[in-house]
Amino acid sequence: MVEKASKIFQAFKEHSVAEFFKKNRQILGYSGKIRSLTTIVHEYVTNSLDACEEAGILPELEVVIDQLGPEHYKVSVQDNGPGVPKKLVGKAFGKMLAGTKFHRFIQQRGQQGIGAAGCTMYAQITTGKPIRVITSTGNGMIYECSVMVDMKNNEPVITDEKEYPGTMRGTKVIGEFKDVKYVKGEYGPYEYLRRTAIANPHAKIIFRDPDGQKHVWERAVDKLPAIPKPSKPHPLGITAHDLLEYANATNARSLRGFFVQTFDRMSSAKAKEIEELTGIDFNRKPSSLTWEEAAAIVDAIKKVKFLAPSMKNLYPIGEEQIEKAILNVLKPEFHSVITRPPAVYQGGVPFIVEAGIAFGGKAGREVNGSKKMEVMRFANRAPLLFDAGADVITKVVNEIDWKRYGIRDAENMPITIVVNITSTYIPYTSAGKQAIADVEEIHKEIKLALQLVARRTSQHISRKLKEKEKSEKRKTLVKYIPEIAYALEKLVGANKQEIEKNLLMIVERKYKEWEEEESQQEEAEETKVEKDMEGETDE
Ligand SMILES: Nc1ncnc2c1ncn2[C@@H]1O[C@H](COP(=O)(O)OP(=O)(O)O)[C@@H](O)[C@H]1O
Ligand SMILES: [Mg+2]
Repeated sequence: MVEKASKIFQAFKEHSVAEFFKKNRQILGYSGKIRSLTTIVHEYVTNSLDACEEAGILPELEVVIDQLGPEHYKVSVQDNGPGVPKKLVGKAFGKMLAGTKFHRFIQQRGQQGIGAAGCTMYAQITTGKPIRVITSTGNGMIYECSVMVDMKNNEPVITDEKEYPGTMRGTKVIGEFKDVKYVKGEYGPYEYLRRTAIANPHAKIIFRDPDGQKHVWERAVDKLPAIPKPSKPHPLGITAHDLLEYANATNARSLRGFFVQTFDRMSSAKAKEIEELTGIDFNRKPSSLTWEEAAAIVDAIKKVKFLAPSMKNLYPIGEEQIEKAILNVLKPEFHSVITRPPAVYQGGVPFIVEAGIAFGGKAGREVNGSKKMEVMRFANRAPLLFDAGADVITKVVNEIDWKRYGIRDAENMPITIVVNITSTYIPYTSAGKQAIADVEEIHKEIKLALQLVARRTSQHISRKLKEKEKSEKRKTLVKYIPEIAYALEKLVGANKQEIEKNLLMIVERKYKEWEEEESQQEEAEETKVEKDMEGETDE
């Protein structure tokens, strides 16, 4: 018997975006107990940092995690940021796809408006409880409320509101979560915050862990990073799908106006070229664009010569800042940092690679009392802790022949490698946003940066080895001087003290000569490094 359509489609329903994310929570990073807890810390911490920076405030964050039972924790994150206006608290923490950063094409940590509400949802489905928000914009009044997400309608539900006078400014979020687990290792909140401190030396971070231990990462620089400005997408980076989405969102009345308004480097002359190449009438309404036409336009764009994308909207951490952060957090014996010049991938998306290496001191990952090499990956300053195997940074680190740089057994050395990719659009491998795709241009830039810092490390190591060799040679020579002097006194009747003095002088003169030779060699090496920076690879 064939079922009638009318019967089958009785079950046809629409689902809210909140219901979608509840079912597919792994997309938001809620897969596995350890990862889920780190995700919660990540969402609140990135929001606090974004808010402080946008408001021009040097961030001070306090993260507290308390254990309430097995796989049951309370997380609290407080910042000294601008606070959330009372009437927006519900939307910010209780509605998916709501926020200040959506569709801005700006280099910020958050983008989609699903982070904060995602945490609320996770609290709700694991404990049945709302999250608590305490916030003030610094106007002398503090506002408190509890927030939940109404899953069916993707709307916030606010309860237990309170308002009272007080001098705080900023936001504190407290949530209770089950089905999560705190670990001290590589994937836990402590490591997440330690790495956040490396990439954000302008932030002070305090962390109280479930054992009650307090960790403080002091601010290493007193200057806020430059505030990213919204940028326009470069035509060469867009797909037909993007184009349709932009065309539907625009308030421009004609396709011509839409193109000039929406894209970087799109003059009216360039728009005209596209119009002629495709034969599409650019006086038409943007919303009338069809999929076929959008695809034809994307093809035409490839034939038009555009200026390279403007880089002025990219804000790397900066060499000096990374250096200060590394010294502050890792206290290494040696370190080296490089910020590469801007580059472009997919023909239209600008990015910058920064890399640093730290050797000795507190660098490296401690495993059973011995040190191992650790790789810290960052995307727009946010640490990436998971899916390391799929990440282009891991791939390049593994490709580097460390032995070539005098670093034998690199895996078991006290080395920390730091790589940060800055871009208005990071090409993640998946919606979990934990691994950066192996894009050819990015791969090459990471390789150049790592080769350079590896070369500098190798110089440091060989200098140390030579120094040791030299001082040992000197020690041996000096040790035999009294014996030689004694023998000479016996044999030819010379003055022992006089001979000792002269022999010592000869050894010192030789020692000086070695040192001069070395510094000449080092200069030659330095020139080689300079050449590297101009774009030559080691291979
Ligand atoms: N600590 C905070 N201080 C100020 N505003 C915040 C804070 N946390 C969240 N917000 C606001 O809530 C919005 C939604 O946050 P979120 O869901 O994480 O999305 P996103 O960070 O992608 O914009 C943010 O865009 C911001 O406007
Ligand atoms: Mg966010």
